[in-house]
Amino acid sequence: MRLCAPLLLCLAAALSSAFVTHHHHHQHNMWTKLILTHHWPITFCSMEHCKANISYWTLHGLWPDKGIDCNSSWHFNSSNIEDLLPDMRKSWPDLLKPMSVEFWKYEWHKHGTCAARADSLNSQHKYFSKALELYHKLDLDRILRKFNIIPSEDYYKLSQIEDAIESFYNVKPKIQCAHGSRRDDVQVLGQIEICFDPDFTLMDCEKHFTTEMSKGHEDVLMDPERPSGFSVCHDDMPVYYPPLSKKT
Ligand SMILES: *[C@@H]1O[C@H](CO)[C@@H](O)[C@H](O)[C@H]1NC(C)=O
Ligand SMILES: *[C@@H]1O[C@H](CO)[C@@H](O)[C@H](O)[C@H]1NC(C)=O
Ligand SMILES: *[C@@H]1O[C@H](CO)[C@@H](O)[C@H](O)[C@H]1NC(C)=O
Repeated sequence: MRLCAPLLLCLAAALSSAFVTHHHHHQHNMWTKLILTHHWPITFCSMEHCKANISYWTLHGLWPDKGIDCNSSWHFNSSNIEDLLPDMRKSWPDLLKPMSVEFWKYEWHKHGTCAARADSLNSQHKYFSKALELYHKLDLDRILRKFNIIPSEDYYKLSQIEDAIESFYNVKPKIQCAHGSRRDDVQVLGQIEICFDPDFTLMDCEKHFTTEMSKGHEDVLMDPERPSGFSVCHDDMPVYYPPLSKKT
């Protein structure tokens, strides 16, 4: 009996030091939320002067809430996602350069290398295929239409869009608009973010990030030198959800 007590203490000490090491590692590196960001190509292209010819929500990125550019030596190579390319071009198109892989390369380096700290996303194929999987599972475009939120010359209230998304997915989205590009008293629907926990279960997004990474999440576009100008939509301003213009 007398040996038992110190032995237990030793075990407890060993276990707790193992736990502390483990915990320490994760505290510094591990993200706790993934943000699946969709953008509306027509709004994007009205700001970036690309030629919008797509009128469905496309992927912008899958962003962990912690970390930017986590491994600069892990180069993007599209041959790792060869089988995904047809879906990538349709669901995650580079709106500025439709034939290039630069957008995916940019997203991989900035966000994918950080997401890859989790075993579930620790390869380019896992990262991009999971993003596509979540995008198709959400099917945001269809859900908005189902709630009669369709591109229109009439304006919406932000709450109509928020309520549609919340009532279907049962979580809060983060909705971003372009301000001042149409009229000062109207905002233009630009991005919709839906959040997941590390097990890929839906969870609430926060409207306003206060983390060290907030800047990276607000202005991420293909060209880091040109901030997108998207910011959280105002509750009390009409929302324009632009249809594809027949002229352009
Ligand atoms: C959109 O335009 C790009 C080039 O401008 C073209 O490659 C692509 O096929 C077009 N997509 C559709 C759906 O028309
Ligand atoms: C960074 O990526 C390289 C190339 O894939 C890999 O060998 C290395 O282990 C990675 N480093 C970290 C810290 O994950
Ligand atoms: C990409 O990967 C393929 C297949 O592993 C390889 O043959 C090719 O050299 C790689 N390209 C670059 C630019 O590293």
